[in-house]
Amino acid sequence: MLTSMRQLLLFLFCFFVFFSCFQPTFSRAPYVMRISCGARNDVRTSPTNTTWYKDFAYTGGIPTNGTRPSYLTPNLSTLRYFPLSDGPENCYNINRVPKGHYAVRIFFGLVSEPNFNNEPLFDVSIEGTLVYSLPTGWSNHDDEQAFVEAIVYLEDGTASLCFHSTGHGDPAIMAIEILQVDDRAYFYGPGHGQGTMLRTVKRYSCGAEDQKFGVDYRADPWGGDRFWDSILTFGQSADTPISTNNSIKLASVAPNFYPEALYRSAVVSTDTNPVLIFTMDVDPNRNYSIWLHFAEIDSSVKASGQRVFDVLINGDVVFPDVDIVKMSGGVYSALVLNTTAVISGRTLTIAMHPTTGNSALVCAIEIFELIAAEAKTSPGEVKALQSLKSALGLPLRLGWNGDPCVPQQHPWSGADCQFDRISNKWFIDGLGLDNQGLRGFLPAEISKLQNLQSINLSGNSIGGPIPSSLGTVHTLEVLDLSYNFLNGSIPESLGLLTALRILNLNGNSLSGKVPAALGGRLLHRASFNFTDNAGLCGIPGLPTCGPHLSAGAKIGIGLGACISLLLLATCLTCWWKRRQNILRAQRIAARDAPYAKARTHFNRDVQMTRHHGQERTAAENGPSLLA
Ligand SMILES: *[C@@H]1O[C@H](CO)[C@@H](O)[C@H](O)[C@H]1NC(C)=O
Ligand SMILES: *[C@@H]1O[C@H](CO)[C@@H](O)[C@H](O)[C@H]1NC(C)=O
Ligand SMILES: *[C@@H]1O[C@H](CO)[C@@H](O)[C@H](O)[C@H]1NC(C)=O
Ligand SMILES: *[C@@H]1O[C@H](CO)[C@@H](O)[C@H](O)[C@H]1NC(C)=O
Ligand SMILES: *[C@@H]1O[C@H](CO)[C@@H](O)[C@H](O)[C@H]1NC(C)=O
Ligand SMILES: *[C@@H]1O[C@H](CO)[C@@H](O)[C@H](O)[C@H]1NC(C)=O
Ligand SMILES: *[C@@H]1O[C@H](CO)[C@@H](O)[C@H](O)[C@H]1NC(C)=O
Ligand SMILES: *[C@@H]1O[C@H](CO)[C@@H](O)[C@H](O)[C@H]1NC(C)=O
Ligand SMILES: *[C@@H]1O[C@H](CO)[C@@H](O)[C@H](O)[C@H]1NC(C)=O
Repeated sequence: MLTSMRQLLLFLFCFFVFFSCFQPTFSRAPYVMRISCGARNDVRTSPTNTTWYKDFAYTGGIPTNGTRPSYLTPNLSTLRYFPLSDGPENCYNINRVPKGHYAVRIFFGLVSEPNFNNEPLFDVSIEGTLVYSLPTGWSNHDDEQAFVEAIVYLEDGTASLCFHSTGHGDPAIMAIEILQVDDRAYFYGPGHGQGTMLRTVKRYSCGAEDQKFGVDYRADPWGGDRFWDSILTFGQSADTPISTNNSIKLASVAPNFYPEALYRSAVVSTDTNPVLIFTMDVDPNRNYSIWLHFAEIDSSVKASGQRVFDVLINGDVVFPDVDIVKMSGGVYSALVLNTTAVISGRTLTIAMHPTTGNSALVCAIEIFELIAAEAKTSPGEVKALQSLKSALGLPLRLGWNGDPCVPQQHPWSGADCQFDRISNKWFIDGLGLDNQGLRGFLPAEISKLQNLQSINLSGNSIGGPIPSSLGTVHTLEVLDLSYNFLNGSIPESLGLLTALRILNLNGNSLSGKVPAALGGRLLHRASFNFTDNAGLCGIPGLPTCGPHLSAGAKIGIGLGACISLLLLATCLTCWWKRRQNILRAQRIAARDAPYAKARTHFNRDVQMTRHHGQERTAAENGPSLLA
């Protein structure tokens, strides 16, 4: 018995040692998620037998048959499109994505129906950051415009990809890829990762015959299956493509795992025109990250010092004296250089000027746009808005998908946002959902929006009570719940809202006593409206509360009021007379001595201080208030 126990423990020990030793091997496979939008079943595409999951994680839209606008798009036949009736913003929210860096790629499609012949133009955001606006004519270009790709850092377990209508057709999405890459992939320097995204503008494999995806090159899966467009010549000078079948050292290494094939071809300049110049059109005034790839594959160069050149970007030398053999450690060995540049004009020019030897060479060029990632809305606020969305039965057309405040170009309709620099988060400071056909009830969670200054839900069909939790939203200045079906009494807690200026509860079915604290506020410069309700009472202008008064009590109250009025009139007369006397005395005094007026005041102040605590008449108080 004892020995078998010992054996079991030994076995368990070995088991754990085995698994802890092999852990790194298990975590080697990157996270991969591919979705065939609109598909009812998983799809496999040839020739790589890549698996695309059937459609899931979408917020709305309609699945249908689609056509591929480009040979680049995977061979899929369905898509999902989002008509405006499903709201201006729709998303794919993919959960359980491990924290890390990802290449996210979204392929666009065209609905294959006769009445859908327009290409849709819309905006695409990833994690609340606007990364791409589809340009006119994107579906006619047979190149990378059929997809958008960005390297992003995902940290909250969800990948949120949203499509924003711009009024030019229904966004139509064919496929989505979320491919994990190395945490230091495309590390360009400080600022990499958390606060920035790299949108792929272009990837060129220079001197290559065909354009290819990473899988076609049998590239490392951590490379993010990049697409490499081919460019045989830069077209400006007498440059020519060259290629080799030799193996290349230092290719396919961390963090970027470039496919070896990338370095087996290149564009070289010739003796007649030694400067190698690459140009392309870019969007002006943006920051770009530029990655250049070299390998000495020209058999005429055998040692360092035989080919040296400067690399200039828009005229500035960014890499002086590039000697590929020296810097990469030999011939047939990969060298990667990267730099960031602000391009103010519309043209990016990369020039390689030979300083030793008569030609320059480049194997591949990658250009990314550096995009500052938007700060997101505070998660608590998002949760509160989501409970509001379901409690009020928010109509689909309002959207409310993705992040409420970002991208800043496409906030949720009806939500006003404010940025808090200290927490680096967005907060909701206003809700304007008047006349939107809302039903349902007001959830207590509305009070989680602790920065609300204004709420207008006027003219809807909201029923049930006013949540008393609203009294904790101390910033509230405007609360307009007029013309709804709210019932029950007004919560006492609303009296705690000291900043409240406008309170419109008219046109509801409210009943009971208006909180005294609200009634008192009427004296100040506030506009409160309690009319047209089932039965509110307790403040001036509304019936008194409680049981009905007897006729005698009514007469008593009436008499009391008359006596009070009479007393007030008497007091006022007394005060007026006394004031006249004082003024006359002052006029006389002023005639006698120039400085007597001030003294008169002083005397009276002393006199009043003495009287302090004693009952004062209106006649005595009056002048002191006026003085
Ligand atoms: C494709 O891959 C799946 C597993 O992922 C496998 O079952 C299937 O046989 C493969 N098909 C081909 C044609 O290789
Ligand atoms: C999509 O195409 C298939 C045939 O490829 C057809 O059976 C199906 O009805 C089409 N679906 C729609 C929504 O048009
Ligand atoms: C795409 O897939 C269909 C079958 O689903 C096949 O008939 C067609 O030849 C494929 N096209 C390409 C370009 O691979
Ligand atoms: C890119 O360049 C920066 C500085 O220029 C350097 O620190 C960084 O290591 C480079 N990245 C890679 C992946 O080589
Ligand atoms: C590389 O090999 C292929 C055949 O495998 C051949 O056709 C081609 O000419 C070779 N290229 C060079 C530069 O040697
Ligand atoms: C480019 O980067 C610099 C600093 O990194 C920043 O100050 C500037 O605002 C950026 N420009 C654009 C257009 O993003
Ligand atoms: C609330 O919306 C209604 C209807 O649009 C409008 O008439 C009213 O003035 C708004 N209330 C406030 C306090 O602005
Ligand atoms: C308020 O109205 C709802 C129906 O809309 C009803 O169920 C509820 O009892 C009412 N509450 C009060 C206090 O009248
Ligand atoms: C209060 O609301 C009623 C309608 O319910 C309206 O007739 C009245 O003018 C409003 N009073 C004020 C002071 O706005």
